[in-house]
Amino acid sequence: MKFFIDSANLEQINEAHELGVLSGVTTNPSLVAKEGADFQERLKEITSVVKGSVSAEVISTEAAGMITEGRELAEIAPNITVKVPMTLEGLKAVKTFSEENIKTNVTLVFSSVQALLAARAGASYVSPFLGRLDDIGHNGLDLISEISEIFNEHSLDTQIIAASVRHPLHVSESARRGAHIATVPLSVIHQLVKHPLTDQGIEKFLSDWENR
Ligand code: E4P
Repeated sequence: MKFFIDSANLEQINEAHELGVLSGVTTNPSLVAKEGADFQERLKEITSVVKGSVSAEVISTEAAGMITEGRELAEIAPNITVKVPMTLEGLKAVKTFSEENIKTNVTLVFSSVQALLAARAGASYVSPFLGRLDDIGHNGLDLISEISEIFNEHSLDTQIIAASVRHPLHVSESARRGAHIATVPLSVIHQLVKHPLTDQGIEKFLSDWENR
C-alpha cells in the first residue's frame, strides 16, 4: 500500500515529501478553502514538488461543468487526477475523462456498489471515506474489504484509496484489507512513526553511550 497526503498545505506536503514515503496528494474543496490560496496556483506548487498523482476536485454538480473544469485542471500538470463526486453526473464526467485519458478519483464513496459503478465508468481511483462511515456507526474498514473483494473477483484495475483516515489502525487495517493507497493527514503520518519502545530504546542507547 502506498501513502498519499490529504492536504493542500505546502509546508505539510513538503514535510511528508522529505520523508520519502509520499506517492501522491489528495485535496478537496474544504482543504483548499482552509488555505485561502489561489486553487490553480496552489496546484502548480504542489505538482512541482510531488510527481505522483495529485487529486484536484471539481466544484460543478452537472457533468458538462465537471468536464470543463476537469479538462482545465488536467492542463495544469500531467500528474493531476480529477476528483469527481460519486453522483450520476459524476459518472458521466468520469466516462468522458476516461475516454480522454484523464485520470479520475471518484470521491465520497460510502458503499461497494458505488465503487463498482465508478470502476465500470472508468475511474482510475475510488475513495471510500472510512472516518465518516465510522462517525455514523458503520464500519469503514469493512467497506475496504468489500470493495477489494469485488475488484479482485471481477479483475477491475481501479485503485482503492482509503480516505477520511483518522488514526493508525485505519492505516494498518486498510493495508491488510487490500487498499492500494491510504491518503492521510500529516498528523496521522506523525502517529504512524511513533512507538514508545522506539523512544525508550533511543534514550537507553544514548545514555549507555554517554556512560561508557
Ligand atoms: C479524501 O480524498 C478526502 O479529502 C478526505 O480524506 C476527507 O477526510 P475527512 O472526512 O477527514 O474530511
